[in-house]
Amino acid sequence: MRKKIALIGGGQIGQILAMLAAQKEMGDIVILDIPELENPAKGKALDLMEMAPHGNYDANITATSDYKDIAGADVVIITAGRPRQAGMTREDLLAINLQIITTVANGVKQYAPKAFCIIVTNPLDAMVYAFYKITGFPKGQVAGMAGTLDTARWRAFIAMELNVSVCDVAGTVLGGHGPDMVPLPRLTTVGGVPLTEIATKEQIDKLALRTREAGTEIVKLFGKGSAFFSPAWSAIVMAESYLKDKRRILPCAALCEGEYGVQGLFIGVPAMISGRGVEKIYEIKLTEDENALLQKTVAGVTKTCEETKL
Ligand code: APR
Repeated sequence: MRKKIALIGGGQIGQILAMLAAQKEMGDIVILDIPELENPAKGKALDLMEMAPHGNYDANITATSDYKDIAGADVVIITAGRPRQAGMTREDLLAINLQIITTVANGVKQYAPKAFCIIVTNPLDAMVYAFYKITGFPKGQVAGMAGTLDTARWRAFIAMELNVSVCDVAGTVLGGHGPDMVPLPRLTTVGGVPLTEIATKEQIDKLALRTREAGTEIVKLFGKGSAFFSPAWSAIVMAESYLKDKRRILPCAALCEGEYGVQGLFIGVPAMISGRGVEKIYEIKLTEDENALLQKTVAGVTKTCEETKL
């Protein structure tokens, strides 16, 4: 029997998620959107079914606005919510997206209580926190897609700057999904060579800044809406690690209970995603400067989570 993937939100990111999940034959796919957008979502599902002969995939792809149809999902990926527009911060979305996440959390809790849940909706760290609080799911069953994307951006910018293959760039970005996130140049390598040895301090500072502002750079270019290709692929990487028990260590928003001195918050940290969900968080010995930067982002996430009043 095929696995079942429920995509809550069938907008820009949701539709790319559906295409990637189909192409990778991750399982049958259900796209859930609001009743007003059920037909467009059905159109996207049908379009993807009609792409299958060329895409060479077998998957049932359907769309709905009824949570009953996500029953028994193995993975739920949530993009329901408003995206940023030019001039907005992710935090500006808090009130509206908190309402949406509340509805979604109740629906998922009722119909897919065993699913591994990946939250993409912004402001990311607060939305994962809210989803976790409302569902009461075990902590390993809930994760936020943030560090996976932030690290992809960091790696991409390094490869672009140094004119090398992105495949050889390894590194990680910690912290919240916002301008205070913490890229770690000291622990980034290019084909095993430390980044700090092949790039100048000026280059590294420029790359770190671009990574922290990467989402905003795209929002400004679009004028309307936010990034969708790279967020979708980042969530798919997390879902695949779960479904195939790949045990990848991916930076993602995981519940910290003492790790990095953080208590009860979802913060971007290196986490192993296995068939059990978020199985383990890895603690890196940070320098004093790195830790100071991390605590700054934690303070920001704490403030946004407090505003949810959950
Ligand atoms: N239930 C299900 N779907 C919903 C609900 C809800 N209660 N409320 C809104 N949606 C749907 C919208 O109808 C829309 O189709 O979520 C979809 C969001 O799609 P887009 O507006 O295209 O936004 P997208 O670019 O996909 O981003 C989604 O991810 O990265 C974050 O900041 C981004 O919060 C935003 C989210």
